[in-house]
Amino acid sequence: MSTSPEGTTGGIGGPRNFLSLRDWGGEELAEMISHAIRIKTAHAREPRPLAGKVLGMVFRKSSTRTRVSFQAAMLGAGGHSIVIDAQGSHVGRGESAADTARVLSRYVDGVMIRTFGQGEVEEFAKHASVPVINGLTDLLHPCQLLADVMTMKEAFGSNLKGVPVAWIGDGNNMAHSWIHAAGRFGFPLRLACPEGYDPDPSIVEWGRANADITLTRDPHEAVEGARVVTTDTWASMGQEDEKEEREAAFAGYRVDDAMMERAAGDAIFLHCLPAYRGSEVTASVIDGPRSRVFDEAENRMHAQKALLIALLGS
Ligand code: CP
Ligand code: NVA
Repeated sequence: MSTSPEGTTGGIGGPRNFLSLRDWGGEELAEMISHAIRIKTAHAREPRPLAGKVLGMVFRKSSTRTRVSFQAAMLGAGGHSIVIDAQGSHVGRGESAADTARVLSRYVDGVMIRTFGQGEVEEFAKHASVPVINGLTDLLHPCQLLADVMTMKEAFGSNLKGVPVAWIGDGNNMAHSWIHAAGRFGFPLRLACPEGYDPDPSIVEWGRANADITLTRDPHEAVEGARVVTTDTWASMGQEDEKEEREAAFAGYRVDDAMMERAAGDAIFLHCLPAYRGSEVTASVIDGPRSRVFDEAENRMHAQKALLIALLGS
């Protein structure tokens, strides 16, 4: 029995899902990102690979980028999307993930779901008969890492083995997906998190077995020579009540100019957004010349288009 907080990823013999980077091989992920780069650079008005396909998008948490980038990706590929918000549907009134999955599978060709527990996404996938995509849980954010790795490849080329990444701040869903990405794409990853905010131990264990990861309490040590410096909000969705105590716990973990000075001369700054200037990052860094955050946000759309074609294309 696995000790991982990620369980099974759907029924045996069922459709292919995208619930975690861990479930996909490095080569197929690399091919997906190459496809995304081709889509972006060709400004493709391709033969509409998802013509007639419909994506359902279930949101139990807020979203700007995930929602609009998936919608735009589906439209750009010739398909359609339907948003199922918690407030306007029975998703927010306690209808089970299993029943929702069974019903939506009768209407749409794939479902993207953003929610709290990873287990809920896995339960959903188990009962769906169409592909299910994890659009963020408390544990993981794999779609974001497709865009982040794509942005790294645009900056440094396709081989990322010599591109050390420094994660500064919370050992949260983004940190976990960075650990998975380090395993699948072969770049070294150093994580600096304050005590009490380390990544999930089972994901660290996976990282130690499958990736080159180092954990430290010292953010300056983590950024030394890094070519990518990245961080995220100190209070994720669902942690709004902890904002004050987190601000105190994360003092010293703000990415500022002094920290960026210790990184490599060609280092870039990434952030999945939304960002809180003056908390996890200074305005001078996120709005400065090393920041690639808006390319990163744009790349959500291209990377997800490649993902959708891989999962829903015929
Ligand atoms: N980065 C990201 O997932 O943004 P949204 O919460 O706006 O979707
Ligand atoms: N860690 C953040 C990511 C937002 C895209 C959150 O879960 O709120």
